[in-house]
Amino acid sequence: MNPEESESAERTRAAAMQLLRSLHQSGVRQLPAAMAVSQVASPAAEATEPQPAQATPAIQAASAIEATRQHTQVLTGSNRSEGLEVLAEEVAGCTACEELCSARTQTVFGVGDPNARLCFLGEAPGADEDRLGEPFVGKAGQLLTRIIQAMGLRREDVYILNILKCRPPNNRNPLAGEVANCRSFFERQLDIIQPEFICCLGSVAAQNLLDTTISIGRLRGKLHDWNGKKVLATYHPAYLLREPDAKKKVWEDMKFLLGEMGLKVPGKE
Ligand code: URA
Repeated sequence: MNPEESESAERTRAAAMQLLRSLHQSGVRQLPAAMAVSQVASPAAEATEPQPAQATPAIQAASAIEATRQHTQVLTGSNRSEGLEVLAEEVAGCTACEELCSARTQTVFGVGDPNARLCFLGEAPGADEDRLGEPFVGKAGQLLTRIIQAMGLRREDVYILNILKCRPPNNRNPLAGEVANCRSFFERQLDIIQPEFICCLGSVAAQNLLDTTISIGRLRGKLHDWNGKKVLATYHPAYLLREPDAKKKVWEDMKFLLGEMGLKVPGKE
Protein backbone atom coordinates (compact mmCIF):
# COMPACT_ATOMS: atom_id res chain seq x y z
CA MET A 1 0.00 0.00 0.00
CA ASN A 2 1.42 3.42 -0.93
CA PRO A 3 1.39 6.27 1.65
CA GLU A 4 -1.78 7.91 0.16
CA GLU A 5 -3.68 4.64 0.19
CA SER A 6 -2.56 3.96 3.71
CA GLU A 7 -3.63 7.46 4.86
CA SER A 8 -7.03 7.13 3.19
CA ALA A 9 -7.53 3.68 4.74
CA GLU A 10 -6.66 5.09 8.15
CA ARG A 11 -9.20 7.93 7.69
CA THR A 12 -11.90 5.46 6.67
CA ARG A 13 -11.08 3.21 9.59
CA ALA A 14 -11.25 6.18 12.01
CA ALA A 15 -14.67 7.15 10.58
CA ALA A 16 -15.91 3.59 11.03
CA MET A 17 -14.64 3.50 14.60
CA GLN A 18 -16.41 6.80 15.32
CA LEU A 19 -19.67 5.34 13.99
CA LEU A 20 -19.21 2.20 16.07
CA ARG A 21 -18.55 4.26 19.19
CA SER A 22 -21.74 6.28 18.67
CA LEU A 23 -23.70 3.04 18.14
CA HIS A 24 -22.23 1.71 21.35
CA GLN A 25 -23.34 4.88 23.12
CA SER A 26 -26.84 4.29 21.72
CA GLY A 27 -26.95 0.90 23.38
CA VAL A 28 -25.92 -1.39 20.52
CA ARG A 29 -23.90 -4.19 22.04
CA GLN A 30 -23.78 -6.66 19.16
CA LEU A 31 -23.13 -6.38 15.47
CA PRO A 32 -23.79 -9.04 12.89
CA ALA A 33 -20.80 -11.07 11.83
CA ALA A 34 -18.92 -8.76 9.52
CA MET A 35 -19.30 -9.39 5.81
CA ALA A 36 -16.87 -12.00 4.56
CA VAL A 37 -13.70 -10.10 4.08
CA SER A 38 -13.14 -11.55 0.64
CA GLN A 39 -16.58 -10.24 -0.45
CA VAL A 40 -15.69 -6.76 0.66
CA ALA A 41 -12.33 -6.95 -1.03
CA SER A 42 -13.73 -8.08 -4.32
CA PRO A 43 -17.42 -8.55 -5.20
CA ALA A 44 -16.37 -11.10 -7.78
CA ALA A 45 -14.61 -13.23 -5.21
CA GLU A 46 -17.77 -15.22 -4.52
CA ALA A 47 -17.67 -16.61 -8.02
CA THR A 48 -14.09 -17.76 -7.70
CA GLU A 49 -12.21 -19.92 -5.26
CA PRO A 50 -12.58 -18.76 -1.62
CA GLN A 51 -9.71 -16.39 -0.87
CA PRO A 52 -7.80 -16.33 2.38
CA ALA A 53 -8.97 -13.24 4.26
CA GLN A 54 -6.51 -10.36 4.36
CA ALA A 55 -7.82 -7.95 6.94
CA THR A 56 -6.11 -4.78 5.74
CA PRO A 57 -7.26 -1.55 7.44
CA ALA A 58 -9.29 -0.56 4.36
CA ILE A 59 -11.10 -3.89 4.32
CA GLN A 60 -11.73 -3.75 8.06
CA ALA A 61 -13.13 -0.25 7.60
CA ALA A 62 -15.42 -1.22 4.73
CA SER A 63 -16.67 -4.17 6.72
CA ALA A 64 -17.24 -2.14 9.88
CA ILE A 65 -19.03 0.64 7.99
CA GLU A 66 -21.35 -1.88 6.34
CA ALA A 67 -22.15 -3.52 9.68
CA THR A 68 -22.69 -0.10 11.23
CA ARG A 69 -24.94 1.06 8.38
CA GLN A 70 -27.10 -2.04 8.69
CA HIS A 71 -27.49 -1.49 12.40
CA THR A 72 -28.21 2.21 12.10
CA GLN A 73 -31.06 1.30 9.75
CA VAL A 74 -32.35 -1.22 12.25
CA LEU A 75 -32.24 1.34 15.04
CA THR A 76 -33.90 4.07 13.02
CA GLY A 77 -36.60 1.68 11.85
CA SER A 78 -39.02 -0.43 13.82
CA ASN A 79 -36.41 -1.69 16.23
CA ARG A 80 -36.02 1.35 18.44
CA SER A 81 -37.99 -0.56 21.04
CA GLU A 82 -35.33 -3.28 20.97
CA GLY A 83 -32.62 -0.65 21.50
CA LEU A 84 -34.62 0.78 24.40
CA GLU A 85 -35.08 -2.68 25.93
CA VAL A 86 -31.33 -3.28 25.89
CA LEU A 87 -30.71 0.12 27.46
CA ALA A 88 -33.43 -0.42 30.07
CA GLU A 89 -31.71 -3.63 31.16
CA GLU A 90 -28.46 -1.74 31.55
CA VAL A 91 -30.24 0.94 33.59
CA ALA A 92 -31.87 -1.71 35.81
CA GLY A 93 -28.43 -3.06 36.71
CA CYS A 94 -26.87 0.35 37.42
CA THR A 95 -25.37 0.83 40.88
CA ALA A 96 -23.51 4.09 40.23
CA CYS A 97 -25.37 6.15 42.87
CA GLU A 98 -25.15 4.17 46.10
CA GLU A 99 -27.75 6.19 48.00
CA LEU A 100 -30.32 5.95 45.21
CA CYS A 101 -29.87 2.34 44.20
CA SER A 102 -29.91 1.06 47.79
CA ALA A 103 -33.28 2.77 48.40
CA ARG A 104 -35.03 2.17 45.08
CA THR A 105 -37.82 -0.36 44.56
CA GLN A 106 -36.88 -0.41 40.89
CA THR A 107 -35.46 1.84 38.19
CA VAL A 108 -37.97 3.90 36.21
CA PHE A 109 -36.89 3.92 32.59
CA GLY A 110 -39.53 5.45 30.33
CA VAL A 111 -42.85 4.79 28.68
CA GLY A 112 -44.58 5.47 25.38
CA ASP A 113 -44.01 5.25 21.66
CA PRO A 114 -40.35 4.48 20.79
CA ASN A 115 -40.95 6.31 17.48
CA ALA A 116 -42.60 9.36 19.09
CA ARG A 117 -42.12 12.79 17.53
CA LEU A 118 -42.43 14.31 20.98
CA CYS A 119 -40.76 13.35 24.27
CA PHE A 120 -41.64 14.79 27.66
CA LEU A 121 -38.57 14.93 29.90
CA GLY A 122 -39.10 15.19 33.66
CA GLU A 123 -36.83 15.30 36.67
CA ALA A 124 -36.85 12.03 38.61
CA PRO A 125 -39.29 9.37 39.79
CA GLY A 126 -41.32 10.04 42.93
CA ALA A 127 -42.79 7.52 45.35
CA ASP A 128 -45.60 6.37 42.99
CA GLU A 129 -43.22 6.02 40.06
CA ASP A 130 -40.72 4.07 42.18
CA ARG A 131 -43.53 1.72 43.25
CA LEU A 132 -45.04 1.24 39.78
CA GLY A 133 -41.92 1.50 37.60
CA GLU A 134 -43.46 4.07 35.24
CA PRO A 135 -42.72 7.79 35.00
CA PHE A 136 -45.41 10.39 35.78
CA VAL A 137 -48.11 8.19 37.29
CA GLY A 138 -48.65 10.09 40.57
CA LYS A 139 -50.63 13.34 41.06
CA ALA A 140 -48.26 15.40 38.89
CA GLY A 141 -48.27 12.61 36.32
CA GLN A 142 -52.05 12.59 36.15
CA LEU A 143 -51.95 16.31 35.45
CA LEU A 144 -49.37 15.70 32.72
CA THR A 145 -51.69 13.08 31.20
CA ARG A 146 -54.53 15.67 31.14
CA ILE A 147 -52.21 18.22 29.48
CA ILE A 148 -51.27 15.64 26.81
CA GLN A 149 -54.95 14.85 26.24
CA ALA A 150 -55.83 18.56 26.01
CA MET A 151 -53.26 18.71 23.20
CA GLY A 152 -55.31 16.10 21.34
CA LEU A 153 -52.75 13.36 22.02
CA ARG A 154 -52.59 10.25 24.19
CA ARG A 155 -49.81 9.15 26.52
CA GLU A 156 -49.15 6.30 24.06
CA ASP A 157 -48.48 8.83 21.25
CA VAL A 158 -45.55 10.45 23.05
CA TYR A 159 -42.58 9.16 25.04
CA ILE A 160 -42.12 10.11 28.70
CA LEU A 161 -38.80 9.87 30.53
CA ASN A 162 -36.87 11.47 33.36
CA ILE A 163 -33.35 12.77 33.85
CA LEU A 164 -32.83 10.37 36.78
CA LYS A 165 -33.93 6.76 36.63
CA CYS A 166 -34.00 6.28 40.42
CA ARG A 167 -36.05 8.09 43.05
CA PRO A 168 -34.07 10.57 45.17
CA PRO A 169 -34.87 10.21 48.91
CA ASN A 170 -37.76 12.41 50.04
CA ASN A 171 -38.05 13.65 46.46
CA ARG A 172 -35.08 15.97 46.91
CA ASN A 173 -33.58 17.57 43.81
CA PRO A 174 -31.08 15.38 41.92
CA LEU A 175 -27.45 16.01 42.87
CA ALA A 176 -25.01 17.01 40.13
CA GLY A 177 -23.16 13.70 40.48
CA GLU A 178 -26.40 11.75 40.10
CA VAL A 179 -27.27 13.64 36.92
CA ALA A 180 -23.75 12.98 35.63
CA ASN A 181 -24.17 9.25 36.33
CA CYS A 182 -27.52 9.16 34.54
CA ARG A 183 -26.56 11.45 31.64
CA SER A 184 -25.47 8.70 29.29
CA PHE A 185 -28.76 6.89 29.96
CA PHE A 186 -31.15 9.73 29.13
CA GLU A 187 -28.99 10.95 26.25
CA ARG A 188 -28.81 7.47 24.71
CA GLN A 189 -32.54 7.04 25.27
CA LEU A 190 -33.17 10.24 23.29
CA ASP A 191 -30.60 9.21 20.67
CA ILE A 192 -32.48 5.96 20.09
CA ILE A 193 -35.92 7.58 19.91
CA GLN A 194 -34.73 10.53 17.80
CA PRO A 195 -37.76 12.71 18.64
CA GLU A 196 -38.20 15.93 16.68
CA PHE A 197 -39.34 17.73 19.82
CA ILE A 198 -38.42 17.46 23.49
CA CYS A 199 -40.58 19.19 26.08
CA CYS A 200 -38.63 19.72 29.31
CA LEU A 201 -40.83 19.79 32.39
CA GLY A 202 -39.30 22.09 34.97
CA SER A 203 -35.89 23.58 35.55
CA VAL A 204 -34.05 20.36 36.47
CA ALA A 205 -34.89 18.78 33.11
CA ALA A 206 -34.37 21.95 31.08
CA GLN A 207 -31.14 23.10 32.72
CA ASN A 208 -29.50 19.69 32.67
CA LEU A 209 -30.47 18.87 29.09
CA LEU A 210 -29.51 22.30 27.76
CA ASP A 211 -26.52 22.65 30.09
CA THR A 212 -27.54 26.08 31.31
CA THR A 213 -28.39 27.87 34.55
CA ILE A 214 -31.01 30.12 32.94
CA SER A 215 -34.31 30.03 34.82
CA ILE A 216 -37.30 28.17 33.46
CA GLY A 217 -39.22 31.47 33.28
CA ARG A 218 -36.65 32.76 30.79
CA LEU A 219 -36.16 29.48 28.93
CA ARG A 220 -39.85 29.01 28.10
CA GLY A 221 -41.62 30.61 25.14
CA LYS A 222 -39.07 29.70 22.48
CA LEU A 223 -37.40 26.67 20.97
CA HIS A 224 -33.87 25.64 21.93
CA ASP A 225 -31.60 23.11 20.25
CA TRP A 226 -30.25 19.88 21.68
CA ASN A 227 -28.36 17.72 19.18
CA GLY A 228 -30.65 18.83 16.36
CA LYS A 229 -33.85 18.26 18.35
CA LYS A 230 -36.18 21.19 19.05
CA VAL A 231 -36.51 21.73 22.79
CA LEU A 232 -39.27 23.57 24.58
CA ALA A 233 -39.10 24.20 28.32
CA THR A 234 -42.15 24.71 30.48
CA TYR A 235 -43.18 24.49 34.13
CA HIS A 236 -43.26 21.11 35.89
CA PRO A 237 -46.77 19.73 36.55
CA ALA A 238 -45.90 19.44 40.27
CA TYR A 239 -45.38 23.23 40.26
CA LEU A 240 -48.80 23.64 38.64
CA LEU A 241 -50.36 21.67 41.51
CA ARG A 242 -48.91 24.25 43.91
CA GLU A 243 -49.43 27.28 41.63
CA PRO A 244 -52.55 26.65 39.52
CA ASP A 245 -52.33 30.15 38.00
CA ALA A 246 -49.26 28.98 36.05
CA LYS A 247 -51.47 26.53 34.10
CA LYS A 248 -52.31 29.34 31.65
CA LYS A 249 -48.64 29.78 30.81
CA VAL A 250 -48.15 26.04 30.30
CA TRP A 251 -51.16 25.94 27.99
CA GLU A 252 -49.67 28.84 26.00
CA ASP A 253 -46.46 26.79 25.72
CA MET A 254 -48.37 23.69 24.59
CA LYS A 255 -50.27 25.65 21.92
CA PHE A 256 -46.95 27.04 20.66
CA LEU A 257 -45.53 23.50 20.61
CA LEU A 258 -48.53 22.15 18.67
CA GLY A 259 -48.11 24.93 16.11
CA GLU A 260 -44.40 24.12 15.71
CA MET A 261 -45.31 20.44 15.27
CA GLY A 262 -47.84 21.35 12.58
CA LEU A 263 -50.72 20.07 14.72
CA LYS A 264 -54.02 21.79 15.36
CA VAL A 265 -54.96 23.07 18.79
CA PRO A 266 -58.06 21.01 19.68
CA GLY A 267 -61.28 23.02 19.57
CA LYS A 268 -59.75 25.70 17.31
CA GLU A 269 -60.70 26.01 13.64
N1 URA B 1 -41.94 14.09 38.62
C1 URA B 1 -41.03 13.85 37.65
O1 URA B 1 -40.25 14.71 37.30
N2 URA B 1 -41.02 12.66 37.10
C2 URA B 1 -41.87 11.69 37.44
O2 URA B 1 -41.79 10.62 36.86
C3 URA B 1 -42.81 11.98 38.43
C4 URA B 1 -42.84 13.17 39.00
